[in-house]
Amino acid sequence: MPDKMRVVSGIQPTGGLHLGNLLGAILRWVRMQDEAQCLFFLADLHALTVDVDPKELAANVREMAAALIASGIDPARSILFQQSAIPAHSELAWILQGTARWGWVNRMTQWKDKAGKNREGSSVGLFTYPVLQAADILLYKATHVPVGEDQKQHVELTRDIAIKFNTDFDVDLFVPPEPFIGGGTAARVMSLRDGRSKMSKTDPSEMSRIHLTDSNDEIAQKIRKAKTDPDPLPADPAGLDGRPEAKNLVGIYGAVTGESVEQVLGRFAGQGFGAFKPALAEVLVGLLQPLRGRLDEFRRDPAELDRLLADGSARAAELGAPTLAEAYRAVGLPR
Ligand code: TRP
Repeated sequence: MPDKMRVVSGIQPTGGLHLGNLLGAILRWVRMQDEAQCLFFLADLHALTVDVDPKELAANVREMAAALIASGIDPARSILFQQSAIPAHSELAWILQGTARWGWVNRMTQWKDKAGKNREGSSVGLFTYPVLQAADILLYKATHVPVGEDQKQHVELTRDIAIKFNTDFDVDLFVPPEPFIGGGTAARVMSLRDGRSKMSKTDPSEMSRIHLTDSNDEIAQKIRKAKTDPDPLPADPAGLDGRPEAKNLVGIYGAVTGESVEQVLGRFAGQGFGAFKPALAEVLVGLLQPLRGRLDEFRRDPAELDRLLADGSARAAELGAPTLAEAYRAVGLPR
C-alpha cells in the first residue's frame, strides 16, 4: 500500500438496500481497504437536500451502517462514521462557499438532473451539495476519491476549489484529490425484469431486485424468474451485445465471484440459462447468507452499532480538526 494514499468516500443512507447497492459501491469499498487508508461515512447531511422523513433518516443511517460492516467494511482498519456527528463538515462547507464560484456549481450535471424542471422549488442545499462534498474530501486531505461516473464532476470541482483556496489565501493547505479507480470493477446492476433499467428500490416489482434481507428461497426464486432470452451464453463478451438481461446476469455473477465477464463466459459458454441460473443463485446465496446473519446480529444489538460509529466519529473528528482550524486561520478568523 503506498503509505500516503488516503481514500475518502461517502454514501447516502438510503433504506431498502439491494444487490445493486452492494455490488455497485459497497463491495468496491471493501476491497479498497487493502489498497489505502480509508475513511468511509454515511452522508446524512447530504440527505437533507431533498425531502426527508426524520424517522426514516435515522433508521436508514443505522441500516446502511450495519450493511457496510456486514459486507466487510472493517471499523478497526478503516474509519467509519456518520457525517453529521462531525460539525467540521458543515463548518468547512460554509468556508468553501466563499471560494466555490457560482458558475462552477451551476455546471454540475447531477444538480441539473436532480432539480429537473423544478429548479425554483428545489432546495438551496441541492445546489450547494457538491460544496459540502468538497468539504468532506478536503477536511481529511484525501488523495483519492472513488468515483462512479456520476460523481467524477464533483471530484473535479473539489480540485478546483482546493486550488483556488490555496492560491487565494497563499497557503498549502488543501490537497487536490484524484479520482480513484481501485477496488476492482463495480457492476452496474440492472433490474431482473428489465435489463435496460437500473435495479432500484422504487421499482414497483419486488421481483426486479434482490434485497440484502431476502431468504435463500427468495433469492433462488427471483433468479429463476429473472427475464432472459432463449439463446445459450456466448463465448465472448461481444456476444452479449443487444442481450441486456443476459449481460446483467453474467455481470452479477462476475461481481460476486470477482471474475471478469470473460472468465465467467469461459466457464458457461454454450450453456443455457437452465444451467446458468442455478449456478448464479448459488453464488448469490453464498454471498448474502452470511451477510444476512451479521445484519441480524446488529438488529439484535443496535448499541454495538452505535458504539462502533461513535468510535469512528471520534477518530475522524481528530483527523479533521487541524485542517478546519487552518482553514479558519487562512481566511482571517483565527482559531
Ligand atoms: N455524492 C455522493 C453520492 O451521491 C456521496 C458523497 C457525499 C461522497 N460526500 C462524498 C462521495 C465525498 C465521495 C466523497 O454518491
